[in-house]
Amino acid sequence: MTTRPLIVTGTDTGIGKTVFAAGLAGALQAHYWKPIQAGLDEDHTGATDAERVTRLSGLPPEKIVPEVYKLETPCSPHRAAEIDGVTIDPARLDLPNVPGPLIIEGAGGVLVPISRTETYVDQFARWGAPAVLVARTQLGTINHTLLSIEALRSRGVPILGIAFVGLAQPDSEATIEEMGGVRRLGRLPPLNVLTRESLTHAFAEHFRADDFLAEALA
Ligand SMILES: Nc1ncnc2c1ncn2[C@@H]1O[C@H](COP(=O)(O)OP(=O)(O)O)[C@@H](O)[C@H]1O
Ligand SMILES: [Mg+2]
Repeated sequence: MTTRPLIVTGTDTGIGKTVFAAGLAGALQAHYWKPIQAGLDEDHTGATDAERVTRLSGLPPEKIVPEVYKLETPCSPHRAAEIDGVTIDPARLDLPNVPGPLIIEGAGGVLVPISRTETYVDQFARWGAPAVLVARTQLGTINHTLLSIEALRSRGVPILGIAFVGLAQPDSEATIEEMGGVRRLGRLPPLNVLTRESLTHAFAEHFRADDFLAEALA
């Protein structure tokens, strides 16, 4: 079997990419990979995204692919790397060879710099994989989401669709779908208690695993 990568990116940091990626990776029994982790205490519990995905997805540890860069400072990867005295080398970000679907989580949004000369979308284009764009439903999302769609398209990164996170905003969601020419994959509502059980249940209720599998298998 070959690796079938799917990128999870978003309109911003702190919008629910990791929670969505955990739900998706669990539903597909995929591997999860956060190649560049900038900030080793992102949610103030000392947990990295990979550790949170391990907990929230219930995936066995061998399905969590180790980070290539674990940077101390919670800031843009290009700066976090400089502070740690390292340079992010795209040659080290080649896709890991794992069987089946691989969920790759970026850092922040599409145009986050990974060096002084490149942004994350350049790396997405090199991977040649489709992207799921995670977007909040709150005020401001139409602008952020349409901008992100343009940036992905301008680099030739195929967009599988939009995964919303937050309370229902039917008009915003439909407007993004129509004006962005993208598919709405579903919406993860705010969960009062965020556990593996509540996330698995919510993901199954609000998304169709086949929408992601079909693309990953294509
Ligand atoms: N659907 C949700 N329900 C409840 N809390 C959520 C949900 N999605 C995200 N969160 C919380 O919001 C914060 C940011 O989410 P996270 O997935 O880490 O964002 P990102 O990966 O985009 O930085 C975290 O504290 C996370 O637990
Ligand atoms: Mg994250």
